[in-house]
Parts: sequence; C-alpha cells; structure tokens
Amino acid sequence: MNKFFLNLGLQPLANNYLSNLKVKQKKYNLNLNFNTKTKLVSISKRIPSKEMFNNKYPYRSSISQTMTDSFKKLSLEIKRKFNPKILLEIGSNDGALIINFNKNKVIGVEPCSNLANITKEKGFKIFNKYWNFSLARRIKKEFKSIDLIYSANTLTHISNLNEVFSSITTLLSKDGILIIEDPSLLECIKKNAYDQFYNEHIYVFSTLSLVNILKKFNLIIFDLKNLETHGGSTRYYIKRNCNTNINIKQNVKSQINKEIKFGLNKFSTFKKFAINVKKSKYALCELFKKIKQKNKVIIGYGATAKSTTILNFCNINNKIIKFFVDTTPDKSNKFLPGTNIKIKKYNPKFMKKVDYIFLGAWNFKKEIFKKEKKFIKNGGKFITHVPLPRII
Ligand code: TMP
Repeated sequence: MNKFFLNLGLQPLANNYLSNLKVKQKKYNLNLNFNTKTKLVSISKRIPSKEMFNNKYPYRSSISQTMTDSFKKLSLEIKRKFNPKILLEIGSNDGALIINFNKNKVIGVEPCSNLANITKEKGFKIFNKYWNFSLARRIKKEFKSIDLIYSANTLTHISNLNEVFSSITTLLSKDGILIIEDPSLLECIKKNAYDQFYNEHIYVFSTLSLVNILKKFNLIIFDLKNLETHGGSTRYYIKRNCNTNINIKQNVKSQINKEIKFGLNKFSTFKKFAINVKKSKYALCELFKKIKQKNKVIIGYGATAKSTTILNFCNINNKIIKFFVDTTPDKSNKFLPGTNIKIKKYNPKFMKKVDYIFLGAWNFKKEIFKKEKKFIKNGGKFITHVPLPRII
C-alpha cells in the first residue's frame, strides 16, 4: 500500500528551462509516497514521458569532469571483468559512457533526439526510442541477445517498472549481466537531500526496494558499489537467479542491513524526513534573508533539475538569487523553471562581483570548489542546503 509522507508543493517540469517568462508553465503537485509492502519510494503524479524527454532535453552527462571520469573508469572495469560481446545502454544521453567502447560493440537507446544525434553523428548505433517491450523485441530480432545491459539514472524515470524489467529480461542472455546505477535513497534521506525528488525521478531506489522488484523477474543483485555521483548513488550488479551457486558479495547483505538499521523499511522514517525537510526550508529562507539584509549579492551555481525543486518549494526568486551560472549550452539565457531567475553562460569573471554562491549542483562540490579556488581565496562563500542549510 502507498502511504503519503511529503508534499513538495506545486512544481513545474524540472528540466523545462524557459526562454520567455510570458509562457505559462504547467505545475504539478509533487507528493511523495512510501509503499509499505515493497518499500519503494515514489512520486504520485506521473507525467507522460513525451512531455519530459523529447528533442529539447537539456541535460548532458558529459558536461562535468566527475561524470566523464566515472564513466571512463566503469568502461575499463566492464572490459576487464565482463568483456561483453555487445553492451546495450538504456538512456545513453550524449554518449558519456558509450564513447569509451568500440563502435561495433555497443548500442545506445536514447529517446531525446537532440542527444541521440550527438552520438549517431559520431557513428554509434543508437535507437532514438523510449525503452519498452516493443523496442526490446526489435533489438532482439537484430542482435538475438545481449550479454551486458547498462543503465544509469534512467530506469527510475520510467513509470512502468514491470515493462522496464521484463523488456530487459527478454534481451539479456542467459548468463548476461545487468548493471544499473541511480541515486541512493539512503544517501538522499541521510543528507536530507529532498531535491532528489522531481517529476522525472518517479522512483528513488533503496537496495531493499530493488531486491523486491527484481525478485519478480528472477533477477538477483550479486554485487554493488556506493558512488559519490549525483550526491550518492549505488551501482548494482545483477544477473538471473538460475539456482546455480551465485556468489553474492557480502556488501549486498551489509547494505541491506544498513538500510534496515536506518529505518528505510519503516514509514515512520519518512514521516521524520518530511519534518526535517520543512525545517530545512525554513532555515534556508532565514539564511537567505539574513544575507540579503546585509545587501550582499548571491548567485546560483549549476542550474540543476534539483534546483527547480528547491527554488519552487522555498519560493526563491531573483530578488534573492540574482542569476545562476551553468556550463550547459541548452540552459544558457533561459530561466529556471517556475522562477524568474535567469541562467547565464558560465564565465569566471562573474565570480569577482558576487559575495555568496548557492550551490545548485552541490553534488559537484569538489569539482566546483577546485575550479573556484580564487573566489574562495578572495573571501567568497558558498551556501548549501545539504545536509543542513549553511554557509561554507
Ligand atoms: P546534475 O546535478 O543534474 O548532474 O546537473 C549539474 C548541472 O551543473 C549541469 O547543468 C551542469 C552544471 N555544472 C556547471 O555549470 N559547472 C560545473 O562545474 C559543474 C560540475 C556542473
């Protein structure tokens, strides 16, 4: 049974950056639920994929060094450990992972044509389609079976998990490996990172919930790795549970125990989280108010989809945050969804004229701090809301 625990207010589509403030944006109530049976956390309102993932999708996975390094490292691990004849990536975005593979050993699936075209133009085989059963059958006809399927930050964007996993098992070879990575619910709740929730993130997986989902498809997690990406993610290594002796690494059991100890199996944990989120909103608004009373200039850094949740939930406008900077070409000169805050193309010169920077991309704190050494040296300060609203 789904039990409601938090309302994050009316939220526009998180990646729908507007060129013109006159355009009226649709907003949807962002309600979070906990399923007492499966332990799955999800948002209640499902937006049709076509409205979110189309030919204008702005997010580029290659835009940060942290992500390109992470994909490069993973590609080396995949080649060394599994050496797949063919790798299929669901949600290949602009090719951050697949460019590390030989063109005839990798297939991408990417519904956003602006992104699919980037890798197609480089000569990669890309299906510019949504991941579903009919596509899996089409790929099966052409390739028979696939020995490694990979997906990062994508499966949680698809409402019908039954179709997601039955399509995967249709294609995966008997001894095939499925690797998926997504933001970790444990990290999200621990860090009070409620901005992990927005309309694209239909689910935020815990290991507990994923085990329950995979069981139905006779799939089993045999290894996992906790990563720093996206503010704390988990990479799961999965295969068919074919009753032969599968060597399940101890870290799978330890992760489940950690989650139970933290209370991810109990509704009361999410009620507590909801209280902490409301406290965090109040503290962040107070912090901004104090800084603005001193007439200081605040800008935002990294116009993330996560920022949309924060700005709309906390009613932050351009009187508080003057503008955001971001390196993504498709976000430049647009406005953060639901706000009147403009996004400017990143230019280091901006940092000379500001006192405080709100870390929209707090998940890239290390990379950003390294880049902005001068700002910090000159007395500039960052503001974050994770795990508590504070100045750093
Ligand atoms: P994400 O948190 O959803 O991955 O988005 C990160 C955003 O932050 C993306 O729009 C790119 C932006 N960004 C910068 O503008 N400068 C940077 O140095 C980094 C690391 C990210």
